[in-house]
Amino acid sequence: MAELGSRINPNSADFKANYAVNKSLAQQLHDRQLHAAADRPARVIDLQRQRGKLLARERIEALLDAGSPFLELSPLAAWDMYDGEAPGAGIVTGIGRVAGVDCMIIANDPTVKGGTYFPETVKKHLRAQAIAEENRLTTIYLVDSGGAFLHLQADVFPDREHFGRIFFNIARMSAAGITQIAAVLGSCTAGGAYIPAMADETVIVKGNGTIFLAGPPLVKAATGEEVTSEELGGGDVHTRLSGVADHFAESEPEALEKVREIVSHLQPGLALRPPTIAFARQAPEEPLYPADELYGIIPADARQTYDVREIIARLVDGSRLNEFKTRFGPTIVCGFAYIMGIPVGIVANNGLLFSESALKATHFIQLCGQRGTPLLFLQNIAGFMVGKQYENEGIAKHGAKMVMAVSNVNVPRITLLHGVSHGAGNYGMSGRAYDPRFLFSWPNSRISVMSGDSAADTLWMVGKKQVFHQLDDPTESEIRLAEEKFKRPILEQYDRESDPYFATARLWDDGILDPAATRTALGLAFATTGHAPLPPAGYGTFRM
Ligand code: COA
Repeated sequence: MAELGSRINPNSADFKANYAVNKSLAQQLHDRQLHAAADRPARVIDLQRQRGKLLARERIEALLDAGSPFLELSPLAAWDMYDGEAPGAGIVTGIGRVAGVDCMIIANDPTVKGGTYFPETVKKHLRAQAIAEENRLTTIYLVDSGGAFLHLQADVFPDREHFGRIFFNIARMSAAGITQIAAVLGSCTAGGAYIPAMADETVIVKGNGTIFLAGPPLVKAATGEEVTSEELGGGDVHTRLSGVADHFAESEPEALEKVREIVSHLQPGLALRPPTIAFARQAPEEPLYPADELYGIIPADARQTYDVREIIARLVDGSRLNEFKTRFGPTIVCGFAYIMGIPVGIVANNGLLFSESALKATHFIQLCGQRGTPLLFLQNIAGFMVGKQYENEGIAKHGAKMVMAVSNVNVPRITLLHGVSHGAGNYGMSGRAYDPRFLFSWPNSRISVMSGDSAADTLWMVGKKQVFHQLDDPTESEIRLAEEKFKRPILEQYDRESDPYFATARLWDDGILDPAATRTALGLAFATTGHAPLPPAGYGTFRM
């Protein structure tokens, strides 16, 4: 396999300028993640401690096998929303190893409004379940939540992808043999009570763990009955009288240890403890070039072009890429490589998409499907080429072939937005709507239907007549001023909405990655995809 060379000069002014910008973006990412994870008022933390509770991340750490990694998902969900009242959307989700088994862990964060569900909390919980289902991951719920955030009930309760879906998913995954385990470490009220009630096996902790459809105040209001939380739905009640929970734990550490025991009894090779697909793995090998150089390669100005092979060379094992059709459709780079020892087919933008680049990608995606090789899409795409020549040669049907291949190929796909993502290029390159198993972005990425400049130009073209009506025989400078005034709010809107933090806050991705840590995250994510068998292959009609 060919080693990729590198033309990067770490001493050049461009490299240094890019490095400074991207390094500070990475630092900003870490600062924001830290803030979302840990910045809570002291009184809220103290209250947890007084109650003998661990914090959500401490619970996860206690659950995981010592020293094993945790691939956290969407740590910045709800970022910059709700006046900062819902850091991380009040829930921590991610994949980690428990008693030797890769599990999806979904942990409420009771330090955020009592662990209640904002719209993004629901979305993050459902996304974690979707990942668990697709990748057949044993799912562990660390429950400590007041249920729906009642001020926003219309956005969390009634619809298909709202709160009720959580229990539907538990039922379906249990039926599919994907083990569902709940540990009730705090409140578990109303609909939330169905998490432990529906889990395959449930642990409840003495004192803090409660499960009930209605809490004491509601019971009093509804029936006049006066009852304490413990009498209504504490650990003793549920493990001795009601049978809603199965295991009684004296303390949180004991409850978490019981969860580990439950996982340890799942049988390897059977549906309940899924075997890994036999990817033709190799021993992992570091790339030839340091990941740190990625900061100097990513252009500070997103419109500047560069060779995507420089990125690939810092992500793949031994910086080796077996390129496919190197001389054809050069604005897309396709090739076989390994990431952390796992074979992958890479589809990477290297300029605009033309008909031949779409055809090349379609061919390559089919090849990967045929060979059972998972796919990595490196997305940096301003769109398909436009204009008469290209429409006349049928660029839309060639793009459609790529979309057909992406939508139906049966191998796992992971997408990384490492630059811009606009227009139909987003679709062909396995955007969020195409259900890649994971989708990550970089702090420099931008995502919107088109660039702000294009949107402002387009809207000016269709809207300027209206503006001219209001001006009586305008001069050149009046027209320029009117145009500038017209475009400014559009540019501002696109600038705000295409920001990666705007995207990650709304769960359009599974998290923003530091470029230098991307290889590890991709390795963990690809390893996760190996737990589910490949679905049957089959494509629809390719328009020829
Ligand atoms: N909707 C909206 N806000 C809620 C809420 C809910 N369901 N439950 C709690 N909150 C808010 C509280 O108002 C408080 O806000 P503040 O920090 O701005 O004062 C914050 O969350 C923490 O609640 P608090 O009661 O102070 O914390 P706690 O740890 O002692 O108790 C609960 C947490 C969840 C056990 C308790 O608040 C509770 O029982 N809430 C009602 C649960 C319920 O009936 N849910 C029905 C869902 S369908």
